[in-house]
Parts: sequence; structure tokens; C-alpha cells
Amino acid sequence: MLEIQVKAVDPIERLAGKVALVTGGGRGIGAAIATELALQGASVVIGYNASHKEAEDLAAALRDKGLKAATIALNTGSSEQIRSGFTAIAAEWGGLDILINNAGISRVAHIEEMSEELLDDMLAVNVKGVFLAIKEALTYIRAGGRIINIGSISSDYMPYRGNSAYVMTKSAVAGLTRGLARELASRQITINNVQPGRVETELLRYTLGGEFERARSQTPLGRFGEASEVAHMVAFLCGEEAGYVTGANLRVDGGVSV
Ligand SMILES: NC(=O)c1ccc[n+]([C@@H]2O[C@H](COP(=O)([O-])OP(=O)(O)OC[C@H]3O[C@@H](n4cnc5c(N)ncnc54)[C@H](OP(=O)(O)O)[C@@H]3O)[C@@H](O)[C@H]2O)c1
Repeated sequence: MLEIQVKAVDPIERLAGKVALVTGGGRGIGAAIATELALQGASVVIGYNASHKEAEDLAAALRDKGLKAATIALNTGSSEQIRSGFTAIAAEWGGLDILINNAGISRVAHIEEMSEELLDDMLAVNVKGVFLAIKEALTYIRAGGRIINIGSISSDYMPYRGNSAYVMTKSAVAGLTRGLARELASRQITINNVQPGRVETELLRYTLGGEFERARSQTPLGRFGEASEVAHMVAFLCGEEAGYVTGANLRVDGGVSV
């Protein structure tokens, strides 16, 4: 008779012993990811730029539950802060296992009205910051490491008008993910691109503007996603079970792209 191995893994043991950095972890999708990784046992470093208080409050709330969390000022638009941030994390935690490139910004304007300054802001955080964070992390990340970028389904599907520059940045992240999957495989490091659809955060409200309610009703599942639903996909990719998944674009979009 077939023998089935029953393995009961306590959720808090799943990522035990792992050190994870979540950029832009103080609010929105990043806060949900930081929370989920901590709940699954990781030591979570919450990177923040403007949301210092939110990041501190989240870390304190997690520690209050007996989980491991700390914060770090990490403006991913600054190569200097990226370098010093990773050095500080490695010194404090002895290395890194998981990097979540979540920080991102959206600036909506038709191409004729998109200033070079706004374009540079988006390129700095959404593209260059992701590239440099990965480059810096590779000095410290251990074998079996996980890199997860937060892209967007908009790089493949129905960009909103005025959103072309944002879409360009998220397409760059998808390309970078595929390219690096090959480069990093020999080090047993996986890299994937989680692509949320419409998740109810400040970024979505800003991007959709007056289209907000219409977009909700046009989503096949009839609702926007919750940040925790993206976080669960990310947490899965961080675990051992996802060891053979690399270079993938994984949509969490309520069916919007089908
Ligand atoms: N919501 C959606 O529907 C949706 C859909 C597709 C993709 N996404 C992507 O999901 C990610 C999170 O977005 P969200 O919806 O949670 O947006 P959000 O609520 O506006 O949060 C944006 C996050 O990015 C951080 N951030 C912005 N500029 C930064 C900088 N220079 N350095 C470090 N962190 C910075 C913010 O940190 P501070 O507040 O500390 O500055 C904040 O934590 C983004 O990459 C976004 O493009 C979102």
C-alpha cells in the first residue's frame, strides 16, 4: 500500500531562522508582506522612506506578539542609502535570506504632460532601486536565498491612460527577473516577480482616480484584492516548497488579466 508521509509544519516554523528585508514595508502591500513573513517565523526588517512612524508601529506590534521585527530607513531612490542599509542589516543580523523589492511609486500623466522629473522619480524607485538593491543584497544573501519583486499585471495587460511610464518601469522589473533567474541559479537563489492586479491601497486610489468604483465592478471576482492576498503568494515563494520556482511572473489579480 502507498505510504503517505504526514508532515505537520507549524506556520511559525515555515520561515524560522530566515532574515527578510521588505522595502517600503511600513504601509500598503509591503506592511502585509512584512506581517505575513514575521507570522511565518522570519526575522523581518521593515524598510521605510516617508512612513517612519507606521514602520515603527508595525514592528512594535509584531514584537508585542513575540515575533521578530526591526526597522531601517531605506530610501530605495538613493544608491547611498541602499549601500549603507544592506551593510547595517548584515552587521545586525549576520546576513540575509529574503529580499522583497516592494517599494514603488506611481505618477499618472499623459506623455505630453509627464515631466522629466516625475519620470526620473519613477525610474529611480521602480527600476534602478530594484536593480541596486538586488546587486547589494547579493553580497550578503545566502544559498537558498529568495528575491521577490513586486511588479504589476499592468506590464502585460490593459494599462490605464496616463500610466505608460509606470507600466514601462514594471515591464523592466519583469525583464530583470527573467534575466537574473539564469544568473542567480548557480548560487541556488531564486527570483520571481509577483504581479498584483488591483489591490486597495493609496497607490490604487491615486492611480484610478475617478475610475475607482468602475474598476472594482469590472474585476471578475467583483472586488479589489487585499494586501494580505499578495502577501500569501510572496510567503509561499519564500519557503522551501517553492525551491523550483524561478524567473516566474505570478499574477494575483482576481481574474482581471484573463
Ligand atoms: N495597489 C495595487 O493595486 C498595486 C498593483 C500592482 C502593483 N503594485 C505594486 O505594489 C507595490 C506596493 O504598492 P502599494 O499598493 O502598497 O502602494 P502604497 O500603499 O502607495 O505604498 C507604497 C510603498 O512604497 C514605498 N516607497 C515609495 N517610495 C519609496 C522610496 N523612495 N524608498 C523606499 N520606499 C518607498 C512607500 O514607503 P514610504 O511610505 O515609507 O515612503 C510605501 O511603503 C508597488 O511596487 C506597486 O507598484 C500595487
